Amino acid sequence: MDFNTEEINRLIKSRRSVFVDQFSEQKIDKSIIQQLLENANWAPSHGKTEPWRFFIFTGEGLQKFADFQAGLYKKITPPESYSEAKFTKLKTKPLKASHIIAIAMARQESEKIPEIEEIEAVACAVQNIYLTATAYGVGGYWGSGGVTYWEEAKEFFGLGAKDKLLGFFYLGYPKDKPGEGKRGDISEKVEWIEE
Ligand SMILES: Cc1cc2nc3c(=O)[nH]c(=O)nc-3n(C[C@H](O)[C@H](O)[C@H](O)COP(=O)(O)O)c2cc1C
Repeated sequence: MDFNTEEINRLIKSRRSVFVDQFSEQKIDKSIIQQLLENANWAPSHGKTEPWRFFIFTGEGLQKFADFQAGLYKKITPPESYSEAKFTKLKTKPLKASHIIAIAMARQESEKIPEIEEIEAVACAVQNIYLTATAYGVGGYWGSGGVTYWEEAKEFFGLGAKDKLLGFFYLGYPKDKPGEGKRGDISEKVEWIEE
């Protein structure tokens, strides 16, 4: 193999979640977004189901997405739990991104592969997006808040009852260099069985 393993190790370790308030105004070139998606498509999937589905919002599309999620929140939230601040956040946060990728899992028609494995495959695809973004100096993060797990949100994306919406990948250029990450020691999460 002719990969620079040191560079790959450094890339993986320097991947950070960069949140919308850390984004600059600069827009990401479409060719970079296409490369993120191309690399996502090379994720593994059991039975080669390739269950990842992506919906890309940018430009006026961001406003469309913002209006949709704020509108849905207003429509289905009972008055006693409704928060105007949450409504405003849903309406304005998307506009701070260069692009938003809605992440979904398309359930296999036969349902032969366990659902959890289809979700795992999508997560592998999202990690490819994370790492590719890092390599291009693009910031972003996988957010699973807002309307992510609301059944009522699926229709907007044309998803069926057995498909799943898994969140939103917000993308933008970081204003500042992302900080160092922190992890507990891997040895605490691993057990070696050698004999
Ligand atoms: C499935 C998934 C869902 C996530 N959802 C959110 C979220 O809703 N809000 C958020 O701030 N971060 C979310 N994150 C990002 C984490 O906050 C982030 O990965 C964690 O803080 C570790 O930071 P790092 O990615 O920079 O290493 C999510 C990450 C994953 C994998």
